[in-house]
Parts: sequence; structure tokens; C-alpha cells
Amino acid sequence: MSDTITVFKGDGIGPEITDAVLKILDAAGAGLTYEIFSVGEAEYEAHGELIPAEGLASFERTKVLLKSPITTPVGKGFRSLNVMMRKKYDLYANIRPAKSNSAVKTPFDNVDIVMFRENTEDLYAGVEEMVDENTAHSIKIITRKCSERIIRDAFAYAARQGRRKVTCVHKANIMKLSDGLFRDVFYEVSKEYPGIEAEDKIVDNVAMQLVMKPWQFDVMVTENLYGDILSDLTSGLIGGLGLLPSSNLGCGYAMFEAVHGSAPDIAGKGIANPTAFLWSACMMLEHMGKTDCAAKIRKAVDEVLAQGTVKTPDLGGTASTTEYQEAIIKHL
Ligand code: NAI
Repeated sequence: MSDTITVFKGDGIGPEITDAVLKILDAAGAGLTYEIFSVGEAEYEAHGELIPAEGLASFERTKVLLKSPITTPVGKGFRSLNVMMRKKYDLYANIRPAKSNSAVKTPFDNVDIVMFRENTEDLYAGVEEMVDENTAHSIKIITRKCSERIIRDAFAYAARQGRRKVTCVHKANIMKLSDGLFRDVFYEVSKEYPGIEAEDKIVDNVAMQLVMKPWQFDVMVTENLYGDILSDLTSGLIGGLGLLPSSNLGCGYAMFEAVHGSAPDIAGKGIANPTAFLWSACMMLEHMGKTDCAAKIRKAVDEVLAQGTVKTPDLGGTASTTEYQEAIIKHL
């Protein structure tokens, strides 16, 4: 695999956290070359394109994208670029690991949940139409093919990582056909992994269980919309959105991004927490076989968080993004 990656600097806090993360990657000796592009709302206003064609061409060459968040207008305007990227490159597996860090105090210790979210279909695909001016249709599509591959990935991951259980999250009591299909496929695939416990739970119950007894969950696999919502919840269990990374994997392409959005409320203030994006970059390094470099960065982050003197405001500190980035570089 080449050492050149594509980088998309998005909106809001995107450019701030991207600068911090690239400096840390360089200081850690990741040995990467970057093809960097501005994308998103700001880029559209400046140059009339949401993603420059050269940016997409770069990703098609490098096959690895480090992408910072992009603003998506609510209720109007252009379609989500995130949804577009996931569909266009069939980045079907969105993997979101939520792991407690002993230095970040939350009501729960020792949470360790890896969510596998199907990334290409379901209501989240945004297939909608106005039937008349007072009625909107949003179409939920669930296919055997897309269900099977994400579920198989979740079990394969559990087997590889020595995990004990995979939980299928659905609403098949109400959506008997679509979610029923997802659940049926889950139990079919589970037969290939007899050593791993397979259970299913209804999504509303899971929302409650997550904030009561999160330790019961290990690997979770779910549809696109439930995964979107529940993974923000799991970020809350470990200290917030500033700490939840993700990878979006497909056949040949891989995109790494923080779970959070462009955080317009803190953009430009220099106080964004770059950790989620940095851990996404660590997932990228691991994907590229640079596991030592990823481990070195993870260790430095753990040390800075454990010391507790340099923390961004979302974690109760007063440090700026740059001060936090510099502290990590000192610990490398
Ligand atoms: P958000 O995730 O941007 O922010 C939610 C809250 O978490 C805010 O209070 C924000 O300040 C805080 N937060 C998020 N990331 C943080 C960080 N790194 N450090 C410290 N605090 C952080 O969600 P919101 O406000 O609902 O969405 C803003 C925009 O982002 C929308 O246009 C939305 O569509 C877009 N979005 C983009 C995503 C992506 O590009 N992958 C994912 C989620 C939302």
C-alpha cells in the first residue's frame, strides 16, 4: 500500500482538527504524503464545488481518505456529502469503537463497545419524495446482500479480536419485513461463528440498556439510522463526541473520520478536541499496516489525558487544540 493519502478538510472545526492531526502524524514519523483538499459548504461558497473533482480523483488513486466533518444543511439544500461518499465508494462498514479511558471521568467505567453500522441503505439513504404538498414519503430499503456483508464483518471482527458476543439491534416487532430480514440474516450468519454468542434486541430497549448497563454489550451490528443515533449515545458513555473515532470500509476503499460533525458552535475558537479525529487517523495507520506508529500515538494521548493538565474544554480543561496537540507531540 502506498504511503500517500487523501485528506479532506471540511467545515467548522474541520480545518482546525485536521491541522492538529497532521502535525501529530508527522511528529510520530508516520511517513505519509498528503494530498489535501478543502471540501464542503465553505468550499462550495468559495469555488462552486462541494468536493473538487481532483479530490475524488485523489481518493480513487490513494484508496485511503482522512476526512474531517462537513456541514449538511438541515431540511433543505444539498444532499449529505457523507452519504454521497459512502454510497459512491460503497463504504458499507462503519465501525465505531467506544472505549472508556480511565483518565476521562464518566458515570461508567470500562465501557468497550464496537458498533458495526450498515452505511449504505435504510432510511438514511435519504430516498424521499413529496406525495402531495402535505405528505412526504421516506423509503426504507434493507437488502439481504447489504445486511449479510455488514453482519459477517461484525462476526469476523469478533472472532479475530477474541470478543464474546454480537448483538443485533433492530425494530423487527414493528418493521417485520425490513428489520425482520436484517434479524433473520443475522441468525443465519451467526451459525458460521458457533463460538460467539449471538443475541438480538429491539432498538428502544437498547437505548435504555446502554445507559443502565452498558457493560453487557460487546460488538453490536445494526442498520444505518439506528447506528447513527446509538453511536452518538455510546460516545456520551465514554466522555463525548470528541472521543469517538470511526472507519468506513468498503471493497478497496477506506475512509476515516470522527463521528462528530462540524461543531459550528465552537468553530474558529481553537478549542475543538482533535482526539476523535486523531484516533480515526490511528485506525487508518492500522489499516495501512503502520501499527507501531498508531500505538505510539495512542500511548502519547493516554499519557496526556492521564496527566490531566492539558485537556480541551469538552473534557473539563482549558487547553486549546494547539496546546493539546503540542502536549501529545512532547509525549511521542
Ligand atoms: P456536532 O457533532 O457537530 O456537535 C454536537 C455537539 O458536540 C456540539 O456542542 C459540539 O460543540 C460538540 N462537539 C462535536 N465535536 C467536538 C469536538 N471535536 N470537540 C469538542 N466538542 C465537540 O453535531 P451537530 O451540531 O448536530 O452538527 C453540526 C453539523 O455537522 C451539521 O451540519 C451536521 O449535518 C454535520 N455532521 C457532519 C458529520 C460528518 O461530516 N461526518 C457527522 C455529524 C454531523
